[in-house]
Amino acid sequence: MQHGTRSDYEYLTAAFEEHARGALVDNLVNMLTLLQGPTLGYQCDRFSHSLQSGTRAFRNGESVDMVVGALLHDVADSFAPENHSDAAAALLAPYVDDEVHWVVKHHGLFQGYYYFHHHDGDRHARDRYADSPYFDRCVDFCAEYDQNCFDPNYPVMALEEFRPMLDEVFSRPSRVPGVAPLDG
Ligand SMILES: [Fe+2]
Ligand SMILES: [Fe+2]
Repeated sequence: MQHGTRSDYEYLTAAFEEHARGALVDNLVNMLTLLQGPTLGYQCDRFSHSLQSGTRAFRNGESVDMVVGALLHDVADSFAPENHSDAAAALLAPYVDDEVHWVVKHHGLFQGYYYFHHHDGDRHARDRYADSPYFDRCVDFCAEYDQNCFDPNYPVMALEEFRPMLDEVFSRPSRVPGVAPLDG
C-alpha cells in the first residue's frame, strides 16, 4: 500500500464504495437467517425472536432506526455469542441514530435484569448507566422488544417486509469517520 498513488486510491475508494453498499443488506439478511434453527432452550429460535422484536417495534410506531435496530439487535449472535450486543451495535453504528446505537449496544446487560439474579448475579447491574439519556429507552426496549419476544404464536411480519426499511437505513452516508477506504 505504501507505493499507492492518489489515482490508485481513487480507484480503490470507488471499489470500496461499491463493496460497502452493493451487498450490505443482503449480507445482513443472510446473517439473520443464520439464527434459524437452534432454540437454545427457548420456545422459538433467534430468527423468529428477531422478527418478533422488529414486528413489535414496527407496530408500536417506532422510528425506522428503532425498527431496524430491533430486527438486528441479535444479528451477531451466531458469530459473537459472548459480546453480541457490542458486535450488533458496531454493525449499526454508521447508519442509525445515537439512541438506537446505544440501546442495541447495551441491551444484553439490560436484559440481565430478567435473569442475572438466577445466576447469583446482580440484576440491577444496568443501574450503572442510570445517568445515560438512553437508560429508560433501553429498559423499555428490553421489556417490549426483547424479553417478551420468545412467543411461538406471535404473528410476525415476514423478513421481506422489513427490506425497504433496511434499504433506507443502510443506504445512508456513514456517520462513522475514517472507515473508508481500506484504512486498516
Ligand atoms: Fe441479545
Ligand atoms: Fe434478543
